[in-house]
Amino acid sequence: MRKLLTAGIAAALIVPASLSFAGGPEDVVNARLGYYRLLGLEMDGLAAMAKGEAEYSAEAAQGHAANIQTLTQYNPGGLFAPGTSNADLPGKTRALPAIWENFPKVGEKGAAFRAAVAELNAVAGNGLDALRPAVGKLGGTCKACHDDFRATDY
Ligand code: HEC
Repeated sequence: MRKLLTAGIAAALIVPASLSFAGGPEDVVNARLGYYRLLGLEMDGLAAMAKGEAEYSAEAAQGHAANIQTLTQYNPGGLFAPGTSNADLPGKTRALPAIWENFPKVGEKGAAFRAAVAELNAVAGNGLDALRPAVGKLGGTCKACHDDFRATDY
């Protein structure tokens, strides 16, 4: 636990960077949405293959997985500047104030997410039967964080 909290997303979330954008909180929100939309785009490609809506391609699957892995290298501390919840900016973001009230828990969700990304990367190119459960598991870690820390609606 202690080890997890000292790395990556977890550490970043425990000490969120203060606002440094000249433009203010809405710029942070836009950057945050951009980050998650990149994640969503890569996940959509994987999900389409897992559901049989797109033909499986080892190269494409590995490419999506690698891009998600790259996104896990990004330190998201700046994306969680205080003053950027949906209570601060109604209609602009779905980030719940609970994020800022419980960083260690968010860090745990982030750690589970990163572990699932690593597992996915190990098998994404090994055929559809290997891809499916790994995508399912990763999707479960996305949902686990969204359930607790993202509002259903803007
Ligand atoms: C550690 C928590 C956490 C994890 C893990 C996580 N998300 Fe999110 N996600 C959020 C939060 C918080 C928001 C809301 C951001 C906002 O509205 O400012 C969000 C928003 C989103 C959005 C919506 C962006 C928009 O336009 O409103 C998408 C898409 C998304 N996440 C995809 C994913 C995918 C795909 C994964 C897994 C591969 C994932 N997320 C994992 C916390 C997480």
